[in-house]
Amino acid sequence: MKILIVEDDVVLSELLREYLQQLDHERVRVCFNGQEAEAAVQEESFDCAFVDLRLPDMDGLRLLDSIKREDPSLPIVMMSGYPTMGSTIEAMRKGASDFLTKPFTLQDMALALERVTKERRLLLENLSLQLEIQARNQLELVNKELQDKIHEQGQLFGISRELDEVRSSEDLYPRIVEVASRVTSSKQIGFFIMPPEQNSLMLVSEHGLDRLHDGRRLVQVRGEQLKEALNRESPVRINLSDLFGGTDSETWLRNSSRLSCWPLHIRGELFGFLAAAANGEEKVFSQTEIKLLDFLVKKAALTIENMALYESMIGNFYGILKSLVNALEAKDLYTGKHSERVTRYALRIAQRLGCSPAQIEALQTVGYLHDIGKIGIADSILNKPTVLTSQEYELVKKHPVIGDSIVSELGLSPEERGIIRHHHERWDGTGYPDGLAREEIPHLARIVMVADAFDAMTSKRAYRDAMSPKDALQELQRNKGKQFDADVVDAFREAGSACDAE
Ligand SMILES: [Fe+2]
Repeated sequence: MKILIVEDDVVLSELLREYLQQLDHERVRVCFNGQEAEAAVQEESFDCAFVDLRLPDMDGLRLLDSIKREDPSLPIVMMSGYPTMGSTIEAMRKGASDFLTKPFTLQDMALALERVTKERRLLLENLSLQLEIQARNQLELVNKELQDKIHEQGQLFGISRELDEVRSSEDLYPRIVEVASRVTSSKQIGFFIMPPEQNSLMLVSEHGLDRLHDGRRLVQVRGEQLKEALNRESPVRINLSDLFGGTDSETWLRNSSRLSCWPLHIRGELFGFLAAAANGEEKVFSQTEIKLLDFLVKKAALTIENMALYESMIGNFYGILKSLVNALEAKDLYTGKHSERVTRYALRIAQRLGCSPAQIEALQTVGYLHDIGKIGIADSILNKPTVLTSQEYELVKKHPVIGDSIVSELGLSPEERGIIRHHHERWDGTGYPDGLAREEIPHLARIVMVADAFDAMTSKRAYRDAMSPKDALQELQRNKGKQFDADVVDAFREAGSACDAE
């Protein structure tokens, strides 16, 4: 052990040194005054100090303070020939470990030394135990943070990989919603886009939002205000109902204020947004959920941009519309794949009539979308198991006009747009929406009308059985020149068995 003796009595200090050296202590250093002692504790460390209460240059208690400041754990034994109760208490209060009254025997000194060094060892052991516990706690904390980080990185990587696997915009939107509902606790999520004309909002994919939209996936909004509201850091909590422009949006008003939105911009323009309702008491998303949805939407924006390099933005929009037609038809037990069959029949009629390649191509792309306007009509009406009331029928009759406005910015030719707007016009001028007659009705619309009517007649409905293809053809024949263009019906008949309901 290294021991410091601070004693101005040369005889006593020499005696103590000799005695301690005999006890095989590593080093014994003697200082004759306070200043010397202060310098010594700064130069080297000791395991124990004996300090005289009365020193030539300073009070022993002052030196005690100064040594404790330098090394708080160093045990100090005070020595005095004339101790008072006051000085003893003061020394103990300042942290002295023991008090030896002169004259003391060398054995007294050895005992004091043994006692205080034992105390010090315990103190140090205790201290190192505390440090160890502290270090362990800290390590556990760091480990937990690391694990959380690894988990989060894993989730981000997973999101990235899942979106990279998507090959078409048709599959992308359901995937965004699926991933969002998996990485958060939200049970109500939807992905909305703003079609190019920017004054309506289209729900392209959803999970648990049926009650909000009641089957209508298209609603009128104040486009500019919506763009402004979403031009902020995500997530944006907005009250969608404030932004609805039309009068037909009542069902959308319910619950919409609870949605937080993550806007998705493509090349600086608002393309759409992911909206989700937080669950639980707090009704807010956790920081991790926010981070994951932020990443998901940013990654989705990149994916859409990359896709747009292959499909044009317009082509991308066709994909979205096609997925909406699929979603619409998937809900209908009776007319599933109606648009696909109508397109097939229409193509065969067109071939029989010798239509141009451009017309054939128009039927291929736009024919599939002839009923797209139905996304603006409530499911309860579209899938009604009984015959519609006249009021409901009037609503359904709006679908050609709604469809025409959806595709208005796609740069279609009048004949192509006519497929959507005029596929319910009748040859005798009693159809809708514009009451066109005979050759005023675009040629391709007349073709789709016959194909559409044939598929409707040969499909089963809740309130009637399916008609046989033969009976349906006869019905078309009967209505030649009234409802249908006679040439188109003839071409359909001539296409023969190819047009049988497949
Ligand atoms: Fe229709």
